[in-house]
Amino acid sequence: MCGISGIVSGENVAAKLLSSIQNLEYRGYDSCGMAVLNARGPVVRKNVGHVADVAEKELFLSLEGVTGIAHTRWATHGGVTPANAHPHLSCDKTLAIVHNGIISNYARLKAALIKRRHKFASETDSEVIAHLVEENRKKGAPLERAFTSALKDLEGSFAVAMVSIEAPHRIYCGKHESPLILGLGKNEFYVGSDFNAFIEHTKDAVVMDDGEYAVVSDHGYEVKRIRDGKPVRKTIMRIDWDSEASRKGGFPHYMLKEIYEQPETVRKALSVSEDSIVGLAKGLTGAKRAYLTGVGTTYYAAKVGQYYFASEADLGVPAASSDEFLENSPLAKDDFVLAVSQSGETYDTLRLVREAKKRGAKTAAVVNVVGSTLSRLVDQVVLQGSGPEICVISTKAALAQMIILMRVAIEAGRMNGRLTPAEKRRKTAQLEALPALISGFLNEYSGLFHTIAQKHASRHNWLFMGRGRFYPVALETALKVKEVAYLHAEGMPAGFLKHGALALIDDTLMSAMFVPGESEKELHRMTMGSVAEINARGGRVIGFHFSKSLRGSKLFEDQVLLPSAPPLTSPLVALLAGQLLSYFLATVLGRDVDKPRSLAKSVTVA
Ligand code: AGP
Repeated sequence: MCGISGIVSGENVAAKLLSSIQNLEYRGYDSCGMAVLNARGPVVRKNVGHVADVAEKELFLSLEGVTGIAHTRWATHGGVTPANAHPHLSCDKTLAIVHNGIISNYARLKAALIKRRHKFASETDSEVIAHLVEENRKKGAPLERAFTSALKDLEGSFAVAMVSIEAPHRIYCGKHESPLILGLGKNEFYVGSDFNAFIEHTKDAVVMDDGEYAVVSDHGYEVKRIRDGKPVRKTIMRIDWDSEASRKGGFPHYMLKEIYEQPETVRKALSVSEDSIVGLAKGLTGAKRAYLTGVGTTYYAAKVGQYYFASEADLGVPAASSDEFLENSPLAKDDFVLAVSQSGETYDTLRLVREAKKRGAKTAAVVNVVGSTLSRLVDQVVLQGSGPEICVISTKAALAQMIILMRVAIEAGRMNGRLTPAEKRRKTAQLEALPALISGFLNEYSGLFHTIAQKHASRHNWLFMGRGRFYPVALETALKVKEVAYLHAEGMPAGFLKHGALALIDDTLMSAMFVPGESEKELHRMTMGSVAEINARGGRVIGFHFSKSLRGSKLFEDQVLLPSAPPLTSPLVALLAGQLLSYFLATVLGRDVDKPRSLAKSVTVA
C-alpha cells in the first residue's frame, strides 16, 4: 500500500531518497515524507500531496545527512493530513520510523503507551512503533533489542524501517506479511518495499522473509530472526529489470507507455518456458477441483482464462475473485488453485493462497514481480516477465497473464486430447502473430480512440457488453474506465440486457458493445441482436467489431473496425481497444492517469 525507502551511505542521501520515493509513488501518493539523521537526531519533513510538490514545499533537498528513511502513503488509519504522513517520531524525537501494513492491535498498544505518558502526534496505527521502541529503550533494552521487542508486540502486517540518533550509520528494518527488500550497493545500502526503491543504484538485492529483521549500514547488512535474534543466511538475487524500463521514455504517462510495451510483454509471455506451462497444465488437469483466482483486473484475467479452458480444453475451471473465494467455493486437500497477480503482494489473493495451503490444496501463481510474497508462497510459480508496471492501472501485465493462461489452456487441451498437436501448433502460431498485430493496431488506431474519447467524455454512465470471451473483456474495460476516467461504467454479458438492464437504456446512457467476428456466427448474431435491442429503445451504441460489412451501420453512433484476428486472439484486440478508450477518456477529462485518486498499485491490506 505504502512505499518505504531507506538509504545508508557515505554521502548525503536526501536526493536519492527523494528519487526513490518518486519511483515508489505508485504504491501510495496521498502524502509523503522523509527523515534524515543529523548530529542532533532525525530531521523529519512531511506533508500531504504528490512527492514532487511536497519535496519542493518542505525543502527535502536541503536535508543533510548520510542516513535516512522516506515514505509515500496510501491512507488506511487516519485521514490524509500532514500529521498522519510518515515518518513518525518518538516523544523524545531521537528515533523515527516508517511503516507499511496494518497493525491490528494498535488501539490496545496505544492505550497502554498513553498510560505510560507517551504523547501521540497522529491518528495512525504506525506511530505506536516509534513509541514502543522508545519505551523499550527506557526500560534499558539496547537499541536493536528495543526494536525487535517492539516488532514482537505487533499483530497484523508490517514492514518497518527505523533510524535513531543512537546509531547514526544504521537503519533497522523488519517485516511480517508486507514486502521488504534490501538493496546492496557499493558503500551504500538500501531498504525498500520493492525493487523500484533502489533499482537506479543497484541490481543486487536480498528479499526479506516474514519474521526477519535487518541491521543495514553503509558497509553491509545482517539479517536475523525477530523471534530470537539468530542470524539468517540470505541469497543475493540479481534483478534483471533496468532502471530505464521504469522511466516514461517520452510518453506522457506510464499508462500509455505500458500499453505500447505490450508487443514486447506478449513476446515475453510467449517465451515463458514450455516446462512451466506444462507444469501448470498438469496441475490443473490432474486435480480433483481446479480454480483460477485473482482480484480486480487479475480476476478478469482469470475469468478470460476460464473461457479458454472451456473452449480449448473442454475443462470447467471456475474463476473466483480472491476476496470472495472462501465464501463461494469449496476448497480442500488436493484441489489446485492458480492465482494471478501483478504485484504478488495483494492481500486478498495472499490470504486465499495461505488458506489453500493450510487446507492441503496445491497452489500455483502467475506473477510479475520477482521475489514477491506470492511468488515465494506457492508450490509452482510462473514469472511472466513483463517488467516494471508503474501505472496504478494494470494493462501490459494483465494482457501477459491472459496469454500465459491461454497457453496453459491450449496445453491442457493437447494433454487431454481435445486438441491435436497440429491444432496446438496452429493456435500457438496465432498467439505468436499477436505482437505484430498489436504494434500495428496501436500505431494506427490511437488517434481514432482519442477522437471517440473527446466526443463522448461528457457521458457519465457507460455500459460495456460482450458475449462469450468478450464478456470478461467488457468487465475489464468497465473497470479501467472507472478507475482511470472516474466515470460510472459497468461490464455486463450482452445476454443480460433483456433480463433487466434494458430498463436503463435511454439517450443519456452510453452503451459500448464488443462484437465477435462473423466467423463466430451464433455469438456474432446474438451480439448484434443486443445492439438492435438498444437501438430500438433510443439507446446509443459504440461498436467495437471486426466486420467490414458493418461499416457505416446506423446501429452504431460510433464504431471501430478492429484489425482482423482469429477467434482465439480477437478478444485480446478488443481488450486493447478498451485500454485505449479508457486512457483517452482519462486524458480528455484531465485525470491523474498514472495515480488515480484513492487507488494504490498493490493493495496489501484487507
Ligand atoms: C488494476 O488496474 C487495478 N488497479 C487492480 O484491480 C489490480 O489488478 C488488483 O488490485 C490486483 O492487483 P495484483 O495484480 O497486484 O494482485
